Amino acid sequence: KMTIKEIYKNPKDAAANSIRLAGWVRTVRDLKTFGFIELNDGSFFKSLQIVFEEGKISNFKEITRLTVGASIIAEGTLVETPGAKQPFEIHASKVEVEGECPVQYPLQKKRHSFEFLRTISHLRPRTNTFSAVFRVRSMMAYAIHKFFQEKGFVYVHTPIITGSDCEGAGEMFRVTTLDMDKPPRDEQREVDFSKDFFGKQSNLTVSGQLAAEAYCMAFGRVYTFGPTFRAENSNTARHAAEFWMIEPEMAFSDLNDDMELAEEMLKFIIKYILDNAAEEMEFFNSFIDKGLLDRLNGIVKSDFAHVSYTEAVELLEKEKNIFQYPVEWGKDLQTEHERYLTEKVFGKPVFVTGYPKDIKAFYMRMNDDNRTVAAMDLLVPGVGEIIGGSQREERADFLEKRMEDMGICKDDYWWYLDLRKYGGTKHSGFGLGFERAIMYMTGMQNIRDVIPFPRTAGMAEF
Ligand code: 4AD
Ligand code: MG
Repeated sequence: KMTIKEIYKNPKDAAANSIRLAGWVRTVRDLKTFGFIELNDGSFFKSLQIVFEEGKISNFKEITRLTVGASIIAEGTLVETPGAKQPFEIHASKVEVEGECPVQYPLQKKRHSFEFLRTISHLRPRTNTFSAVFRVRSMMAYAIHKFFQEKGFVYVHTPIITGSDCEGAGEMFRVTTLDMDKPPRDEQREVDFSKDFFGKQSNLTVSGQLAAEAYCMAFGRVYTFGPTFRAENSNTARHAAEFWMIEPEMAFSDLNDDMELAEEMLKFIIKYILDNAAEEMEFFNSFIDKGLLDRLNGIVKSDFAHVSYTEAVELLEKEKNIFQYPVEWGKDLQTEHERYLTEKVFGKPVFVTGYPKDIKAFYMRMNDDNRTVAAMDLLVPGVGEIIGGSQREERADFLEKRMEDMGICKDDYWWYLDLRKYGGTKHSGFGLGFERAIMYMTGMQNIRDVIPFPRTAGMAEF
């Protein structure tokens, strides 16, 4: 038994033996005494053609009646077909039908809109586009682990259920038991279940950063890579209620070290995918985003741009008439502003640094001007913000003052404040939105189309 991927990798080997291939029928063409099946087995982005002929297989009539979507196991020999669309095909000696597929199957061979395919998220991975997207998603996850592991970063599994609100935006999903009137009783422990299962309010995490900071103060360099949750009420093509985030954290490092790491990581991921998913990337370049390969190849070679928030606002103010949202120092940049900067002004990824403290989280290090913090966002063409990071406030007095000013309960963060007391050091880190990185890599325009089963406001089916 071989997979299509193995056959493409080593056709000489495959041709020497008889082959057994299992997969799903993409198309069938029946030309009276012989026919063609395009088979996909999920191992590779491409399909393989199977030729079947009357007299060579025992169930010729049954196979001519096969429909799109059916699952089969085929046996035969690999034959080279120089000059044809595919470099080789299989001449079948046996074809077994495993599972038939009725003609009502929603994925008949025609173009389907992404909107329609979202309504059948359980079937869409069988289409070419989503086969490519989710194969690239898988490989990107691998590339990210490879990058950090090879650099000696320790992978930390930060909690999903948490009592803290890292970003301080209050956009959290509350965790409770189903029926608070009948809580699970534990007479041995003095837990007040009437308050909540955990004895205090708890939520799904919006970021693993605070826990990563604790581990960073032990291991030096760590990263998390896991699901995060945000109850943002924004129905955009870039926001999901459940998304994955990669969050490295480095001790003894400042904002410049942070940006260097972000740039190196992103280039590593892009290069890894260009090298290892060439077929998928060709497909995206042809069918999803015509300039994709040129753009990504250019980005791997060039240096990212840098601009301060204050300079960025000045640049945007010159063009304020073209924007829907106002541009004003002290206000957060909107996606349209971010895209204008990275696409029109710089034409490549750009780090924006030194944001006003009032639009950023409590843990960011205060700059000497007392108005801005050592924050950075990385903006990329086609997507906008893909990374948010900062140097953290390591000075206990500054941090406590900031928490007081923002009305954050210091008692809740006693353990976080401990990190400043016990051998605290300057440190920095960032969060890469995994789905946004996939959009950037594939040219896909909607976050719903890079998550297997997307959760957005009003949408949690499957
Ligand atoms: O900028 P954010 O909110 O930063 C943090 O959460 C920090 N604690 C990260 C850190 O420093 N360790 O989020 C980081 C990134 C964003 O740049 C964006 O790419 C992505 O996470 N992101 C989302 N992606 C999809 N849907 C959402 N609702 C997202 N919110 C943020
Ligand atoms: Mg952000």
